[in-house]
Amino acid sequence: MDRIRIVGGNELHGVIPISGAKNAALPLMIASLLTDDTLTLENVPHLADVEQLIRILGNHGADISVNGRRERQGESYARTVHFTSRNIVSTTAPYELVSKMRASFWVIGPLLAREGKARVSLPGGCAIGTRPVDLFIEGLASLGANIEIDGGYVNATAPAGGLIGARYVFPKVSVGATHVLMMAATLANGTTVLGNAAREPEVVDLAKCLNAMGAKISGQGTSTITIEGVRSLSGARHRVLPDRIETGTYAMAVAMAGGDVILEDTEASLLDTALEAIRRAGAEISETNSGIRIVRNGAGIKPVDIVTDPFPGFPTDLQAQFMGLMTRSSGVSHITETIFENRFMHVQELARLGARISLSGQTAKVEGVPRLKGAPVMATDLRASVSLVIAGLAAEGETMVSRVYHLDRGFERLEEKLTRCGAHVERVSD
Ligand code: UD1
Repeated sequence: MDRIRIVGGNELHGVIPISGAKNAALPLMIASLLTDDTLTLENVPHLADVEQLIRILGNHGADISVNGRRERQGESYARTVHFTSRNIVSTTAPYELVSKMRASFWVIGPLLAREGKARVSLPGGCAIGTRPVDLFIEGLASLGANIEIDGGYVNATAPAGGLIGARYVFPKVSVGATHVLMMAATLANGTTVLGNAAREPEVVDLAKCLNAMGAKISGQGTSTITIEGVRSLSGARHRVLPDRIETGTYAMAVAMAGGDVILEDTEASLLDTALEAIRRAGAEISETNSGIRIVRNGAGIKPVDIVTDPFPGFPTDLQAQFMGLMTRSSGVSHITETIFENRFMHVQELARLGARISLSGQTAKVEGVPRLKGAPVMATDLRASVSLVIAGLAAEGETMVSRVYHLDRGFERLEEKLTRCGAHVERVSD
């Protein structure tokens, strides 16, 4: 199993190209099941989660081709991928496939809308809390679906004439359930209004793509989304938006290690709250023509309190990385997680590097230390794993991160992107 070896102490200088967003690419790929025409997605990141979803979509009958010649984008390679689901050959998403990645559960929306039925295994994915699917079930039921849970599977059937537009107010903001309800409602009879919907940029990106396919969606980016059902959707060509989590992660890496880096092909407006927190921690951030420049020279890291919240709040997917940064601050910071109840597994690993963190309920108190010291650590989930890399960049000596398959799910060519900026990071295969 691969490990990542980091020797800390180097500043970062150079350019890091930002990939297409994993969390946008996944729902966009799933949306291809809504049409028998071809959906072409540009800027698709090359990640384990994307490859896994390609397998899952193939199981439903999607014919998928990746552009032979990869589109060159800075130092990285974005891919253009074509998805054609002429016929849905199976409306079942089996446990073996769905258990590997939670987002694959989302196929339930398009399958139900297009085929009138879906049998989808209850999901797996990152172990960051119980992560139930009640909102998906309640929401789809409000569109007229009959849903039963049996033997670890969700069996859903639409009424004879198809799903029926309705008004549904989410009792809690959910990105995944908003994606699914929005996709399902595109082919429903009549109009659907989703209240308390997620406002994440990835939801907006999905709505944009669905509209290019012929859907009639408005209000995306606000908490009320209106979807007028249409009879069918067509193909389209859509470019996946930049990955705001990858952007924030590298911004925090520079804030941690010091240096001067341009994050290319990204947009500051996707992560204002996180960038503001990094600024308050002492880094200078400015917008360039094609991205963001982040500089920290000399000045130390100041303590900053954050609370995770749905967009436009501080993203839960950057919480672990920010904690990594705060381990070296000059004071005490508080990090409160409000989205997932068990998303502090990185705390004990950061402690192995010398971090001083205590937990009280949903809040971590981080007392900054003047130095971290490299140690063997274990990645526990996708975002937690990269917080260990950030800490390793500033730790003295060698940090060896095991279980890096977590990293490969969500960070494209991480070691290459950091190495080109002067970091000492390498993949070690046993
Ligand atoms: C998505 C992102 C994930 C991010 C999260 C929050 C993808 C692939 N994943 O995950 O990276 O961390 O948004 O921004 O895009 N909930 C319920 N019942 C449900 C659904 C959710 O109680 O039926 C709860 C969850 O347990 C959690 C909260 O709602 O406490 C938010 O979850 P949700 O927004 O659905 O997260 P995901 O879509 O799984």
